[in-house]
This record gives sequence, structure tokens and C-alpha cells, in this order.
Amino acid sequence: MEIKKVGVVGCGLMGHGIVQVAAQGGCEVIALETEQGFLDKGLGRVDKSLAKLASKNVEKGKMDQATADAWVAETRGRISGSTNRADLADCDLIIEAIVENLDVKKELFAELGGIAKPEAIFASNTSSFPIGEMASASGRPGRFVGLHFFNPVQLMRLVEVVRTDDTDADAFDAARAFGKACGKTPVSCKDTPGFVVNRLLVPYMVQAIDMLDRGDASKEDIDAAMQFGCGHPMGPLTLTDYVGLDTTLFILEGWTSRYPNEPAFKIPESLKRLVSEGKLGRKTGEGYYKWEGDKKA
Ligand code: CAA
Ligand code: NAD
Repeated sequence: MEIKKVGVVGCGLMGHGIVQVAAQGGCEVIALETEQGFLDKGLGRVDKSLAKLASKNVEKGKMDQATADAWVAETRGRISGSTNRADLADCDLIIEAIVENLDVKKELFAELGGIAKPEAIFASNTSSFPIGEMASASGRPGRFVGLHFFNPVQLMRLVEVVRTDDTDADAFDAARAFGKACGKTPVSCKDTPGFVVNRLLVPYMVQAIDMLDRGDASKEDIDAAMQFGCGHPMGPLTLTDYVGLDTTLFILEGWTSRYPNEPAFKIPESLKRLVSEGKLGRKTGEGYYKWEGDKKA
């Protein structure tokens, strides 16, 4: 099955990036949001990112200005927006990138199951929830995969492609091929908590937050240690701000309620406190650090 038309539900931090890389990969894309204002904000981020990538290509001599302008116009021309779920009816693939709340995701997939054409593939970009539960809710478990992209989607080269025991082989192959068309390296994983990356990464972020909460080292020193001692592009506390403290908390709440005896899954005190104060990281201007736009204040 060839994927030509893609619906992306949620045009936030992750969704806008998925919309963009799918269009860069040659697909026609519809971005779905709950409100026009959120849609405009998400598509505005796509515009900024495309302009940035185009100017980098010109700077590096990979494209002349006219070619870069045409690339931006063609890519953007493949993207449209909607606030009406019915507009996704003829998509070949629908990717969900809404809030990390299993009940809300299940409700969405149950409704999409009645809207989308029968052969359409459904995918969730969830960071932590079981793909199988959403697949059951959708009423089409054979056509369901996880497609887990990484933040920032435009720059990170991985996509995890998750199959359940019920996923049809052709749906899985088409999802992998779509990941490649988006310019990503796909890795396959079973439907296991956190898949590959988050099962390793989130407990590491938790350990760093606990270290800070105990007063063992400052946030700057913890981050510098991992950046310069291990060659990570950013330290774990900067990364938590980057991912979003709310998303990190949702992931951990889901895991600690499902797996109460797993010692790697625990919720640090400061994470709960900062989220309750509305300090969600880079997106709200404050988390473990203060932010001005994309840069630390
Ligand atoms: N679109 C286009 N260009 C972008 C961009 C975007 N979305 N985001 C950044 N850029 C550009 C920047 O503007 C910058 O351009 P200039 O060089 O012209 O200034 C360039 O890319 C490099 O960015 P930065 O200056 O910010 O510096 P950087 O070299 O540190 O790169 C980074 C940024 C790629 C994000 C890097 O810091 C990095 O890899 N960080 C780790 C990210 C990571 O681990 N992500 C995974 C999170 S976990 C997850 O996603 C899963 C989950 O479920 C929670
Ligand atoms: P976000 O809050 O930035 O964006 C979510 C968007 O979904 C918002 O714009 C919201 O208006 C929209 N939305 C909510 N309910 C909707 C609905 N019913 N229909 C249409 N739109 C709806 O969140 P995010 O960080 O982009 O995370 C989205 C998903 O991606 C989550 O499942 C998250 O776990 C996962 N994820 C996040 C990261 C990360 O680093 N933040 C990385 C990989 C995966």
C-alpha cells in the first residue's frame, strides 16, 4: 500500500513537525486541530521551520535562492488544515499527536474508526501508552501501528515503528516506508512500555531530576557533565524542558500506575511541583530553566 495522503491530528510541538516532514516526503497532508487558533499557530511554526531549512540550504550552497523558494512553496502547498475530523475520511494514513492521555486518544481513534476508509492505517505518536489498547479502541487492530517521532521532528533522524501481535504485515511495511520517505531511519519495536528510546531515556531524566532535588549538584553542572562528559547534545534537565514537563509527567504517571513495582519508573517531587505551577519547560518560558523563545534566558 502506498501512502499518498496523510492526516495528522494535533499540530503542537510534535504534530507540526510530523506535518512538515510528511509534506517534505511528498505526501499531501491535512493537519487537524481542535481550534483554528491552534492550527494557525502550528502551521506558523511549519512556515518558520521551512524558511530556516531553506536558508541553511542556500548558505551551504546546496540550493540557489530560486530553488529554495520553489521547494518551500511546493512543500507548503501540500499542507492544508482543518478543525473537522470528517475531512480525514480519504487519508491513507492518520497519525495522532495529541495530548498524552490514553482515554482522550482512545476516544479519538474510536471516532476515526467510523470516519476513515477501511484500508487506512492509523498510527499513534504516543511516548508511553500501549499501542494495542488504542488499536482495539479504533476497531481496526490490523491497520494500527506506533510511529514514534522525536523532538525536534525536523532534525531528529529516528522514527520507531511499533507493531502489535495484530498488526497486518502490509500496514507495518507501509508505515516503515512512510518513515523513510519522511527522511528518517526507522527502527522496529514490539509494543513494550517506552519502546526503545523512552524506556532508556525517561528513567535517565528522572535520575538527573532526583540528583538535583537531593542537592547533589546544580542543574548547570548536571547538564554540563552529560554534555561534555558523554558527548550528549544537551544535558538531561535542558532535555526535560525541551520535551515538556507536562509530557514527562504524563508518561511517568501512566507507567507508575501500570507498573507500580518497577523501580526505574518514579515521579520526582520537583517535576510534580513545577507542573502544578504551570512551569512546563521551554513552551511556557520556564521549567528547570527560564527560556526566551528557543534560547535559555
Ligand atoms: N526546524 C528547522 N531548523 C531548526 C529547528 C527546526 N524545528 N530546530 C532547530 N533548528 C536549527 C536552529 O535554528 C539552528 O540553526 P543555526 O545553526 O542557523 O542557528 C540549528 O538547527 C541547530 O540548532 P541549535 O542552535 O539549537 O543547536 P544544536 O546544535 O544543539 O541542535 C538539537 C539542536 C538538534 C535539538 C540538539 O540539541 C539535540 O539533538 N538535542 C537532543 C534532542 C533530543 O534528545 N531529542 C529527543 C527527545 S525525546 C523524544 O522526543 C521522545 C519522547 O517521546 C519524549
Ligand atoms: P503539545 O501539547 O505540544 O500538542 C498537542 C496538540 O494536540 C495541541 O496543539 C492540542 O491543541 C492538540 N489536540 C489535543 N486534543 C486534540 C484533539 N482531540 N484533536 C485535535 N487536536 C488535539 O504536545 P506534544 O509535545 O506535541 O505531544 C503530542 C504527543 O506526542 C503526545 O502523545 C506525546 O507524548 C508525544 N511525543 C512528545 C514528544 C516531546 O518531546 N514533546 C516526543 C515524542 C512524542
